[in-house]
Amino acid sequence: MYLPGRPIAGAEAEALTQFCATYSPFPGARAIVLAEAPPEIFTGWLLGVYGKVSSPSALVFVGDRRLPDAAARTGYTAEGAALEATALGFSTCWIGGGVRRREVMWMLGLEEHEHVYSISALGYSHEDKTLGERATAGMARAGSRRSLEAIAPGSEFWPEWVKSGLELVRVAPSATNRQPWRFALEGRSVRLFFEGRDTPVISKRLDCGIAMLHFELGARSAGVEGRWELLEGNDVARWTST
Ligand SMILES: Cc1cc2nc3c(=O)[nH]c(=O)nc-3n(C[C@H](O)[C@H](O)[C@H](O)COP(=O)(O)O)c2cc1C
Repeated sequence: MYLPGRPIAGAEAEALTQFCATYSPFPGARAIVLAEAPPEIFTGWLLGVYGKVSSPSALVFVGDRRLPDAAARTGYTAEGAALEATALGFSTCWIGGGVRRREVMWMLGLEEHEHVYSISALGYSHEDKTLGERATAGMARAGSRRSLEAIAPGSEFWPEWVKSGLELVRVAPSATNRQPWRFALEGRSVRLFFEGRDTPVISKRLDCGIAMLHFELGARSAGVEGRWELLEGNDVARWTST
């Protein structure tokens, strides 16, 4: 499926570049549009559930590694940029492995503390999947999601706005579709955490940052505003309704 053939261009490309240049929901994290992404930044051709990726454009997700919660900040910001790209008519696909991070850092002139957490392919997709690509997608359980009860035990009795947030979390992307996010209701707040140890290479906190954005969009679409407070350890963040 994922063989976008030409770099992004036109008014939509400009709009996305502008958006990313100013979108900074959390200091220390940003998304950068790489309109021309040379093939050398990809290490191989089989990059995961979507099979062969050769993307002439990319989104690069960068965070300040000196901050303890940089991965969560970056996940949130990155997903915001990816959703904006989708809204503008582009196709995206997160790529955590198979990226030459040093090359990307060098191309963008990043500083040593600026870590490339992930990138996303960016372009115009076509739908012809080879048999191999379909099989790989099946193996990675693409499309399958944990139940609400699994990610938020007891949530059937929680307020509607929380359930609305959780429903959007369920469809969020995560590395290898592992969906590490878990939720607990604490008064007017919802705590987001993960179980087990974090993985330094592709962080569970990055996935949880993506979940933060999805939760917020769901809660807000149910009419409830709030704010995030970033946490440490296995806790990632707390959303408190205002
Ligand atoms: C941090 C991160 C890294 C990812 N890395 C890759 C990757 O290297 N290759 C790939 O094909 N998909 C990658 N994905 C996409 C996931 O595999 C995908 O979101 C998940 O399998 C769910 O698929 P679905 O949304 O199509 O159901 C990544 C997603 C995230 C959030």
